[in-house]
Amino acid sequence: SVLEMEVEQINKGSYEHYMQKEIHEQPESLRTTMRGRLIRGGFCKAKSVLLGGLKDHLKTIRRSRRIVCIGCGTSYNAALAARPLLEELSGIPVTLEIASDLLDRQGPIYREDTAVFVSQSGETADTLHALQYALDNGALCVGITNTVGSAIARNTHCGIHINAGCEIGVASTKAYTSQIVVMAMLALAVGDDTISSQLRREAIIDGLFDLPNKVKEVLKLDQEMKDLAEQLMAEQSLLVFGRGYNFATALEGALKVKEVALTHSEGILAGEMKHGPLALVDENLSIFVIATHDACFRLVLFSKQQSVIQQLHARKGRLIVMCSKGESSLVCPGVSVRVIEVPQVEDCLQPVINIIPLQLLAYHLTVLRGLNVDQPRNLAKSVTTQ
Ligand code: G6P
Repeated sequence: SVLEMEVEQINKGSYEHYMQKEIHEQPESLRTTMRGRLIRGGFCKAKSVLLGGLKDHLKTIRRSRRIVCIGCGTSYNAALAARPLLEELSGIPVTLEIASDLLDRQGPIYREDTAVFVSQSGETADTLHALQYALDNGALCVGITNTVGSAIARNTHCGIHINAGCEIGVASTKAYTSQIVVMAMLALAVGDDTISSQLRREAIIDGLFDLPNKVKEVLKLDQEMKDLAEQLMAEQSLLVFGRGYNFATALEGALKVKEVALTHSEGILAGEMKHGPLALVDENLSIFVIATHDACFRLVLFSKQQSVIQQLHARKGRLIVMCSKGESSLVCPGVSVRVIEVPQVEDCLQPVINIIPLQLLAYHLTVLRGLNVDQPRNLAKSVTTQ
């Protein structure tokens, strides 16, 4: 109806599509996710995080034998992005499960496990069934959802609201970055009793405070990503390579491209390049490589990624390289490739920055092709049947 159309226009504000609005809203949505939860510290008081919905359960989480994170789609990718930090700060083994796969296998879940359910809607059928399964097996169940009062929020023992605000575009964008931040705060809270990681935790908290500004900065790449979308418009396929903290970025970037631009895209763990994907590479294949600078002790990863770029280049792949600001000559010395420079942040928060150019790329590819960006064919925002 006319009224519905007008309401929709008001909701979108100055934007043409919800996905576009939600991408550009991220400095704000991240701020609301962190609001009231980061403690600046001060005289004799350490910087810390405060998660009200979790505080009575932190001791139990710290004592658990394993943390298992469960989700579908983008929510699974958010857990993948946060896993390295969660295992680093908690010292507890962290495993990941795609909800449907856990159910198919009836995989082992124990009383000594903490099961973390990640879901934007809080209503995804597979995730909800996996929750019931974990409850039946006696695990402590933590919910991370964006919807207050949702089934997953109601049925878990405790949890953290994502607070990213209502997300309407079927392809998740701002909920993804907020989910990563929530899981980083979870890691900080669980690790809070460990003196040896105090400085690391404080550096991450500083990084979180500054993250919305860095997100604002990376959003300035909008036009550059539109230009890139024009260049890639006729492509049949796009591979996305990442590793470490940004393996998740590769999977999530590829998911955006296939979901909305309806283009075949695959996220690939760069360490697996030689075990198959390299066979695909020739002068007709476009490849996006994520090679941002990881903090000092991860330098090894960075140099490994340099060698991946050299090998893909040697096979004549059409490379687009994402690197940290000012490092293009370092990442691919002597190789002329298209470079996307992004601001550098604390290593574990880099996935929040790095996904944004890929969200923009998927958005522009879709609009240029005249496809429905907010409501891609065959997909639903919330999959409530199995
Ligand atoms: C659907 C949506 C995705 C979402 C996934 C999981 O596939 O289209 O955007 O990532 O469900 O949804 P959830 O609400 O559980 O995060």
